[in-house]
Amino acid sequence: MNDMNQSANLAGHNVEGAFDVARIRQDFPILGRQIHGKPLVYFDSGASAQKPRAVIDAMTAVLENEYTNVHRGAHYLSQTLTDRYEGVRGTIARFLNAPSEEQIIITRNTTEAINLVAATYGRRFLNKGDGVLISDMEHHANIVPWQLLRDEIGIELKIAPIDDRGVLDLDAYAALLDGNTKLVAMTHCSNVLGTHVPAKEIIGLAHERGIPVLLDGSQSVVHSRIDVQDLDVDFFVFTGHKLYGPTAIGVLYGKAELLAKMPPYQGGGDMIASVTYEKTTYEEPPYRFEAGTPPIVEAIGLGAAIDYVTAIGMDKIMAHEKALLAYATEQLAALGDIRLFGTAPEKAAILSFVQEGIHPFDTAATLDRAGVAVRVGQHCAEPLMARLGVDGTVRASLAMYNTTAEIDVMIEALERARTLFG
Ligand code: ALA
Repeated sequence: MNDMNQSANLAGHNVEGAFDVARIRQDFPILGRQIHGKPLVYFDSGASAQKPRAVIDAMTAVLENEYTNVHRGAHYLSQTLTDRYEGVRGTIARFLNAPSEEQIIITRNTTEAINLVAATYGRRFLNKGDGVLISDMEHHANIVPWQLLRDEIGIELKIAPIDDRGVLDLDAYAALLDGNTKLVAMTHCSNVLGTHVPAKEIIGLAHERGIPVLLDGSQSVVHSRIDVQDLDVDFFVFTGHKLYGPTAIGVLYGKAELLAKMPPYQGGGDMIASVTYEKTTYEEPPYRFEAGTPPIVEAIGLGAAIDYVTAIGMDKIMAHEKALLAYATEQLAALGDIRLFGTAPEKAAILSFVQEGIHPFDTAATLDRAGVAVRVGQHCAEPLMARLGVDGTVRASLAMYNTTAEIDVMIEALERARTLFG
């Protein structure tokens, strides 16, 4: 059996009628390969998603035929590639339903986008003693930038608690908004638990008190429909590589009035209006925050990824993933020895678990031998691991190209782990 046929067998049946998962799998070349002699079952999309042919081809075409720098040359290639690059800004704006392209800042990733807000908005508008409220299920990328600011100017880091299902405690959250809180920075969807936080409620409660909100959309942008105007969110950040696009490109969306007041992040080319030795003036947003040659090829790749996801339809992707989550949750429970972390009623297809009495690394190694790629460890969320009372978990994070047949492969491998290590 060749690789492609094996991959096709893993396509199984469609869990959602209108969504042709077998057809979608054919768009992702890597899904045809084998690992340890077994068809790859890729359950690590929460760390980084695989790329469809459309993204690979779009990036290759630029490198082969259209490549040059943007924003700089008077020549044909530079003008046409600048148009394409700026066109992606429009694609991103439409994808988020942002009011304008000028509110879309290209960064390297989510981490850089949060650091940008901390370093510009934070340094300019937060003072010693002001509180920044995060949750107890943040990725390190939404903890450490605020700690750096705490160490620099003396802000206070405040933590909104979660319950044992991984649901944010809204009463405690509302109580923590009082007093010194001046900014909320929160995950929109936990990378470990899959919890979707009730963003509109969180933002509404904060805005009642005049507090702006940043949402970390790294996972939510992949698993839900984002409308920054409907959310009324002040800052929304995400990364390209989890959204089936390339690495090294991320996005910061900000409300225009906030961006207009924020000082530059890094200094260099592209972000200036004029430079003399005595005085430099800066561009308006978004360019003010985009020093240096941008990730041109990566932007074209992200644009292709957004076009790809949009053409399939986020609603169809969500329905497919919801069915996968229900199936995986049921099958894991049927094993009888699984402790699942994250059982919020509203959650994405991210399953963190341990097999009772088996070290997560042994579980993950057994899965790997079966061709199943999962993440194991602390998932860049050490404080959350402490809250859960574990050193680490196994995490299966599913995506639009996954199938029930692949979940069956994982379940079979977990049964094997029980016989090997139980
Ligand atoms: N933030 C990525 C993850 O959750 C790397 O795995």
